[in-house]
Amino acid sequence: MLNPLGFLKQKISPSYLAVDIGTTSVKLVEVRRGKQLPEVTNYGILESSGHLLRANKVLQTSNLKIFEDEAAELLKLLIRETKVQARDALASLASFSVFMTVLDFPEMEGGEVEKTMVFQARQYIPLPISEVAIDWLKVGEFEDQKGQRRQQILLISVPQEQIKKYQKIFLAAGLRLSALELESLSVVRALAGNDPTPTIIIDIGSRSTNISLTEKSQLKFNVQTDFAGASLTQALATSLSINPLRAEELKKERGILTTGPSYELSTIMLPFLDAIINEVKKAQFSYQSQFPGAAKMERVIVTGGGANLLGVEKYFQTELGLPVVKAAPFSRFEYPAVMEPLVPELNPHMSVVLGLALREFA
Ligand SMILES: Nc1ncnc2c1ncn2[C@@H]1O[C@H](COP(=O)(O)OP(=O)(O)OP(=O)(O)O)[C@@H](O)[C@H]1O
Ligand SMILES: [Mg+2]
Repeated sequence: MLNPLGFLKQKISPSYLAVDIGTTSVKLVEVRRGKQLPEVTNYGILESSGHLLRANKVLQTSNLKIFEDEAAELLKLLIRETKVQARDALASLASFSVFMTVLDFPEMEGGEVEKTMVFQARQYIPLPISEVAIDWLKVGEFEDQKGQRRQQILLISVPQEQIKKYQKIFLAAGLRLSALELESLSVVRALAGNDPTPTIIIDIGSRSTNISLTEKSQLKFNVQTDFAGASLTQALATSLSINPLRAEELKKERGILTTGPSYELSTIMLPFLDAIINEVKKAQFSYQSQFPGAAKMERVIVTGGGANLLGVEKYFQTELGLPVVKAAPFSRFEYPAVMEPLVPELNPHMSVVLGLALREFA
């Protein structure tokens, strides 16, 4: 029954893959020990075919996953095209595919925590316990009014069906799946791994935006919203009566620079960014109220392809009143010199896979 997410936790070979199956793309890096830092020897991104043309239909449902067969096909293609050699792989799990809740308990020994979590999980998880794998991590501690030490634990549960699906995808692609990790944990390792500053990480993907609050380089709080990159594209396509492919191009070319000829485009896209900003503010508020002694967030890192939107850092900075920077996860790796010109644009797309890859070096 108890099946923590690092379910195999075996040591993997010197060179291995990290894979992120997103809602519209599959990404992969091949990594080995480098001279000073881990080294990325190969990478690839493949977008699922035609997702833009299907945007209209897809946007109406919330649990958007690339289907199993399509994911396996994309992964196979990616392996073939990139010619990666490694066959051991780590994979990330999207936040929306897991169930998370924060529980608080008196301080207790490791073994007792385990028993208590299994017991508590029955009450909090909306599925029969035999159908989920559970894992947990300590996210806080405090003293209650009676002076008793208490701890807060983030309970993570993943439907077994979801795990089986990943095992099937990887098997079909000829890979050995060594561990699954929640994408928020990967992203925090990649972006806040060295820095204790209380940080908000906003991962603007294609179909969902994942908001993580960290303190002392640890994940403390995590929420998602469906407002994301595809919402902007869709808004442009509808408002300007243009096809989604053209809307996607326009979005990437012009961004939200609020003056000049792009002004009209900004006014179409800003309400969706405001919706994301609202979720961030709500997350800050919930964190502060749920966690006694929670630190105030001091900075923001934007990541996910949406972080490449021209002007987004400045807009978030003004609206959130905090310094905002774009993710640069490649700075924690060595990589071939030919990649250098691509890195600024690749950076935000690769935070999850690179953070996942770092797990073996932690
Ligand atoms: N230059 C750019 N300007 C604006 N948006 C961009 C730019 N480049 C990429 N994007 C957007 O980034 C999104 C893809 O980002 P990412 O690769 O993080 O998505 P994903 O991981 O596949 O999706 P998800 O995390 O939702 O499963 C798309 O919506 C794309 O339009
Ligand atoms: Mg993503």
